[in-house]
Amino acid sequence: MEFGASFWYKSLPTPFCILFFSFTVSFTLLSLLLFILRLIKPWCNCEICRSYVTQSWSSEFDNLCDWYTHLLRKSPTGTIHIHVLSNTITANPENVEHILKTRFENYPKGKSFSAILGDLLGKGIFNVDGDSWKFQRKMASLELGSVSIRSYAFEIVSSEIQTRLIPLLSSHAAQKGNILDLQDVFRRFSFDNICRFSFGLDPGCLQLMLSISDFDKAFDLASKLSAERAMAASQLIWKLKRTLNLGTEKKLKQAIKIVDLLAEEMIKNRRKMGFSTQKDLLSRFMGTIDDDQYLRDIVISFLVAGRDTVASGLTSFFWLLAQHPEVEKAIRDESDRVMGPVSQSGLAQELSSFDQMREMYYLQAAIYESMRLYPPVQFDSKFCEEDDTLPDGTFVRKGTRVTYHPYAMGRMERIWGPDHLKFKPERWLQSGVFTPVSPFKYPVFQAGLRVCLGKEMALVAMKSVAISLIRRFDIQVVTPSQAPTFVPGLTATVRGGLPVVISERRD
Ligand code: HEM
Repeated sequence: MEFGASFWYKSLPTPFCILFFSFTVSFTLLSLLLFILRLIKPWCNCEICRSYVTQSWSSEFDNLCDWYTHLLRKSPTGTIHIHVLSNTITANPENVEHILKTRFENYPKGKSFSAILGDLLGKGIFNVDGDSWKFQRKMASLELGSVSIRSYAFEIVSSEIQTRLIPLLSSHAAQKGNILDLQDVFRRFSFDNICRFSFGLDPGCLQLMLSISDFDKAFDLASKLSAERAMAASQLIWKLKRTLNLGTEKKLKQAIKIVDLLAEEMIKNRRKMGFSTQKDLLSRFMGTIDDDQYLRDIVISFLVAGRDTVASGLTSFFWLLAQHPEVEKAIRDESDRVMGPVSQSGLAQELSSFDQMREMYYLQAAIYESMRLYPPVQFDSKFCEEDDTLPDGTFVRKGTRVTYHPYAMGRMERIWGPDHLKFKPERWLQSGVFTPVSPFKYPVFQAGLRVCLGKEMALVAMKSVAISLIRRFDIQVVTPSQAPTFVPGLTATVRGGLPVVISERRD
């Protein structure tokens, strides 16, 4: 015997049945529409949403992150909500700890994020939650978390500096007055490094069909266009454009095709060269995974993770040094003390040993301080799974995008004190020893359960490059007083790069 709504409905005469069916469908569609509208609030006319939609913020601020910083500073809780994006943004360390650690399970990357970056990152570690994330994290941790990993990373970085970076910069120094884009140099350097470290392959030696610069361009474009999807007031727009293969979505598809070619080439080469005895990340994954598409996704996530972040960190570091010769001098003095001074012949020991590097607290402090003001990942979003209330009292509705904002956090007086805008490495030193702060106050490498796996490697790379260049060269930034503006992307990239003139040091 049948009970309930279906029994009742079937016992009605046919015209009523049709009427009832139409009513149900219309009601469901209307509810769905109202639900979507409530989520994206495209009509919201509050001052912040109006400014976002019309981009009127740009008349006062160079970068979106500067405008958000301004709003977050004004907010008594350090949290704001952009209705049109259904996005809660916070610069409050207690909230950050809640999202990234205490209620980690309630704040996954979520399906919307996966959709936005899905075409580029697929099922790579950056773009997944749950079991797939756990599996990749465990595998990658074996590689990146091992005790010997820092010295292994150090070896690769040192050889890259000695055999490529220094010769390249020396040849530029020889052509006096020649302008060089240091950001571009750092991106190429980091790309070589991350490939050697993660895949055991040197892009300089790969038998590629495409030159690296083709790949670079395609990779940049794909990252930029993917990030722009996240900034759209409604996801429906880019999804429609993708279905119709129009405009930026068409360009994104073409760029991803080129990126895919390189990844395929890398996997093919690794197979040809053998992977069973290799220690690199790709070989480890190849031992367990047969699916080339999955391997491609893993490869791309690590490229995104390792290339642009280190290059971005180094670019802002050298831009800040150009305005703070006293910091550069303090780094030189420290390195002279630890490594010995530059000899009479002008030849300096360019590369420090791994142990020497660990003794250079001021250098470490300067790098942390530089990323406080210019974090390579300026903001990062999660999605709220179930209704929740943040420690500062902000209610978060299920389905809301929740963003913690390292860029704004580095510029909050309530976190860093009255000199928060000053580039001051000393704030990281206690009795001359580097002393870190809570990662929830400084989530530059994220924090909690998904904390960056490449942090130590990144720091080793940045310190090695910094010390080698500072000891050997004088680097003049062409426009030191021009504040950086950033190209939208997954990591902070300075529009126009970092043009510099390089000369060999004489003192
Ligand atoms: C200065 C350099 C770097 C910074 C500032 C940085 C920052 C970050 C941030 C903010 C995240 C979280 C991103 C998210 O969940 O959306 C992250 C995750 C990650 N990073 Fe880094 N990163 C750096 C360098 C590296 C390097 C060199 C590697 C690899 C060799 C790496 C590997 C990873 C991986 C695998 C994850 C994903 C962790 C997970 O989801 O469990 N990172 N990093």
